[in-house]
Amino acid sequence: MNSKKIIIAIDGYSSTGKSTLAKQLANNLGYVYVDTGAMYRVTTLYALNNGFISENHFNINDFVIELHKIVISFKYNPELKFAEVYLNGVNVEKEIRTMHVSSFVSKVAAVPEVRYQLVKQQQEIGEGTGIVMDGRDIGTVVFPNAELKLFMTASDKIRATRRFDELTAKGDAVTYEEVLHNVRERDYIDTHRKNSPLVKASDAIEIDNSSLTIAEQFDKILKLVTEICS
Ligand code: DC
Repeated sequence: MNSKKIIIAIDGYSSTGKSTLAKQLANNLGYVYVDTGAMYRVTTLYALNNGFISENHFNINDFVIELHKIVISFKYNPELKFAEVYLNGVNVEKEIRTMHVSSFVSKVAAVPEVRYQLVKQQQEIGEGTGIVMDGRDIGTVVFPNAELKLFMTASDKIRATRRFDELTAKGDAVTYEEVLHNVRERDYIDTHRKNSPLVKASDAIEIDNSSLTIAEQFDKILKLVTEICS
């Protein structure tokens, strides 16, 4: 058992298995897991459902005025062994994972007011507890003092295949080309935005999991945690 509770920050490109690793670590260590991508997805869902986004236009000015109406919460589901996300009290865990939300989320996540609100909430959730948080700016902006920072990568084709398999298994009618395009587009927007772009923190450990199994990756990271905590 590790007694010292630390902050584990997991950043990286989309579909690099950040949340799979984060859930494994949280369950094994008895830590709280926070999926910050889910918070940006919930915010996007709200914008889509309330008419702020249409095919070619995002009404950012009016949207940021309504940000205070978006209440995001997490509730642990013991069967699934992770905390599901709620928008104003409604479980939206499934709705936020669709391609439709994925196609707009990077644009919403690039809005400075959105980032300001969500980063503040993430810092509050993480205070004084063992935490695993995954996202794009956790080791650089949210918790620059995290004891363990990981930066996950894998080739874009491998990531698109993983995401395609996940979506089709859920019955989402998408093509592989569509998913690959979305992965590449999000990589571009996430790494090029002005406000806290996705970059590897100078003290983060890079994990390329293109040819690692989920179990191999978990063992490798758990060893790192054990070293830090002992
Ligand atoms: O991890 P994910 O694919 O569910 O994240 C969805 C989007 O949210 C991602 O394309 C970029 C954005 N995001 C972000 O900008 N900062 C974070 N900390 C987490 C996600």
